[in-house]
Amino acid sequence: MRKRQSVPVRTLLISTTLLATGLCQHLIPASQVHWQFVLQRLYYLPIILAALSFGWRGGSITALIGGVFYSVNTFLTSPASSYDLLDLDLEVTMFCLVGMMTGILADREARRKSTLEQTARELSKVYRELQENFEQMKRTERLSAIGQLSAGLAHEIRNPLAAIEGSADVLQNETPSEKQRHEFLGIIQKECRRLNRLLTNFLDFAKPRQPDLEMTEIGHLVDSVVGLAAHAAGGTPIMFNKEIAASLPLLECDPEQLKQVLLNLTINAIQAMQPNGGEITIKAQERQQQVFLEVQDQGCGILPEYLGKIFDPFFTTKNDGTGLGLSVAHQILQQHGGQLTAERNAEQGMTFRIILPVKRTSVL
Ligand SMILES: Nc1ncnc2c1ncn2[C@@H]1O[C@H](COP(=O)(O)OP(=O)(O)O)[C@@H](O)[C@H]1O
Ligand SMILES: [Mg+2]
Repeated sequence: MRKRQSVPVRTLLISTTLLATGLCQHLIPASQVHWQFVLQRLYYLPIILAALSFGWRGGSITALIGGVFYSVNTFLTSPASSYDLLDLDLEVTMFCLVGMMTGILADREARRKSTLEQTARELSKVYRELQENFEQMKRTERLSAIGQLSAGLAHEIRNPLAAIEGSADVLQNETPSEKQRHEFLGIIQKECRRLNRLLTNFLDFAKPRQPDLEMTEIGHLVDSVVGLAAHAAGGTPIMFNKEIAASLPLLECDPEQLKQVLLNLTINAIQAMQPNGGEITIKAQERQQQVFLEVQDQGCGILPEYLGKIFDPFFTTKNDGTGLGLSVAHQILQQHGGQLTAERNAEQGMTFRIILPVKRTSVL
């Protein structure tokens, strides 16, 4: 698009050049043929300038005015015998042709530029809208996640509360035997513990703390997880195998959080193999600046239709499960810029795989 503020300046420049050329032609005697030739060509300058600035109309009008100047000056300054009328006509026609053609090309270029600018404006508008929609989607997703969580939490709290209330009623209204008293108090204690565990896990999920990164030795971390998990196995005969690659680098992570993730996975593996037991293999290796940590079990496995749900908060197939272990693990790994995947083993059981970058540049 032509700039508005430059229109008067251009008009002035074009008129000045045109007038100056005409005046020079008028003042320089026809005998100075070389100067006359130069001036004749100089008329093209304002014509082309006008065509470029104001399109074919501007080019044509300037060419006509230039033609008039040129013809009048030639008639007035040269003796009738020294110019060729055909040559004069041809020159004026050339002025008009050059003015019009350059103007048409300039118009076409201006239209193309304006279309491009329009497209760029539309594209940037679409981009802005897309960004707004994306932000909106993120907000909606977060709201729906909070809604889902609250509904799940309410459901999870109601059951233990009902059990506690029922037991308390029995203890208050009836005269239970010592054995019954013991049994109902046991139920109350168990359900309180369950509620406490649920709330701790929920808080970990709802308000995860930022990872406190430090260079961590994975071998030690796995040892300590196996030590803790062995207690959780109770009487179930579990054999732990560790396959830690010798060349494993130190991993930049929050060791407490990663321990929690590995422990959640290992306890799930133990629970999946109860009551018969079996082997749990924990592998660690490095490929292309990423550490792969795997927990492989020989348990009951996960049905293919459940695979898409196990990372949802409160999804559990266990009577006393909270369904938050994998959600918490998933979230911790996301904060580390890593991933958690679950795969059914070819023969039996599951493999959970943690993928973490060896070095973090920033925490998400
Ligand atoms: N290693 C595993 N083998 C079989 N099923 C598993 C395994 N790990 C997780 N699951 C399934 O995923 C569900 C969700 O696990 P999790 O989030 O830890 O909650 P919870 O252990 O409290 O049920 C479990 O209830 C179980 O059905
Ligand atoms: Mg669990």
